[in-house]
Amino acid sequence: MTYEQAEKLLKEKGQEQLLRFYKELNEAERSRLLEGIEKIDWSFEEVLKNPEDLSGRGRDIRPIEGMSLKDIKERREEFFAAGAEAIRNGKVAAVLLAGGQGTRLGVDGPKGAYNIGITRPLYIFEQQMRNLKDVVEECGAYIPLYVMTSEKNHEETVAFWREHDMFGYPVSEIKFFVQDMAPAVDFEGKIYLESKDYPALSPNGNGGWFSSMRRAGLCEELHARGIEWINIYAVDNVLQRIADPVFVGATLLSGVNCGAKAVAKAYPEERVGVLCEEDGRPAIIEYYELSEEMANKREKDGVLSYRYGVILNYLFRLSKLEETADRRIPVHIVKKKIEYVDECGETKKPERENGLKFETLAVDLIRPMESVLPFEVEREKEFAPIKNRTGVDSVDSARELLKKNGVEL
Ligand code: UTP
Repeated sequence: MTYEQAEKLLKEKGQEQLLRFYKELNEAERSRLLEGIEKIDWSFEEVLKNPEDLSGRGRDIRPIEGMSLKDIKERREEFFAAGAEAIRNGKVAAVLLAGGQGTRLGVDGPKGAYNIGITRPLYIFEQQMRNLKDVVEECGAYIPLYVMTSEKNHEETVAFWREHDMFGYPVSEIKFFVQDMAPAVDFEGKIYLESKDYPALSPNGNGGWFSSMRRAGLCEELHARGIEWINIYAVDNVLQRIADPVFVGATLLSGVNCGAKAVAKAYPEERVGVLCEEDGRPAIIEYYELSEEMANKREKDGVLSYRYGVILNYLFRLSKLEETADRRIPVHIVKKKIEYVDECGETKKPERENGLKFETLAVDLIRPMESVLPFEVEREKEFAPIKNRTGVDSVDSARELLKKNGVEL
């Protein structure tokens, strides 16, 4: 994009502030700024004009049928055989969602590069790759792995994996791709400048993984490899079981378009999104959207009716993802503190929210799938998320759980 093109576009959009420092930039900085402007996804304008009503639950919400630990135990071998066969036939790929910024953990750089070891280094990425290699060993085949990064951490992430020899996984089985970015704006909808030579852009939320994969041209490759199922998982759960053959088998044999790993909600008020049926379709309802009555509702045998708490580990049927890919999923407008460069060229770190970011969420991908299998896993064995340094869902709690599972720290 040339300066003239950028100027014309920004005038039309009422965003000329992005060129405020252009004149004082050197050649390299100027092209960086123009590149950044070219990357802006303008769909945020429509989202701001017509924000979706995301509070409007109150529709027909019901509990959803799923597979409990007991159901799974009874058919474990059958599920394992079906899942392992699909993996051996190259039908399953994994996607690591590592585009987040890990602000709560407060690290610079990729969250997966965080060292959770005590007596020796053990990185989050490393622990997750150990879990994946266990499956490779069990099934006798590699699972192609796609790692989603963001513009903010891509280079560091790739360098970190290279430095660690891809954690013992074959290079040919790993591919990195960068997720799409969305602008950060002030309350008037004006895009902030992150620096004099770049607009404030941030990852567009973990619901953007498939559209980012498509844009990166990876769908052709998935087809060429014969992949039919994609297991997405979060970077922060160090007990994450990836491409778990029992889960894969149960999903395949159930004939659904999506499997969702879930832990039984520990108590009615627990802050976790749960699977439900909404107007006849599967969906995830957030804890703050459940009425007290629903949260406390129990089945005849005493278990909570809304009990399948999701842990960001889903298996999607590729053909269904493609079929629904052009349908828009909700874009959440979130108030955030956004660092920016002011009119005088000074960097400001706001103490309170000063603008909006636009995010899509993986939970919103469940509804378009039309059928889902809630698949219960043992919390103590499979769920150790690291969101904070200490307290709930922290480095401390994850270390405890790793130790319980025999991992030396
Ligand atoms: P979180 O919602 O915990 O966000 O991400 P985060 O950015 O890692 O952490 P905070 O909120 O800033 O503290 C859950 C998963 O989704 C990924 C994260 O990397 C993590 O695996 N994610 C999140 C993305 O890949 N892209 C995004 O834009 C957001």
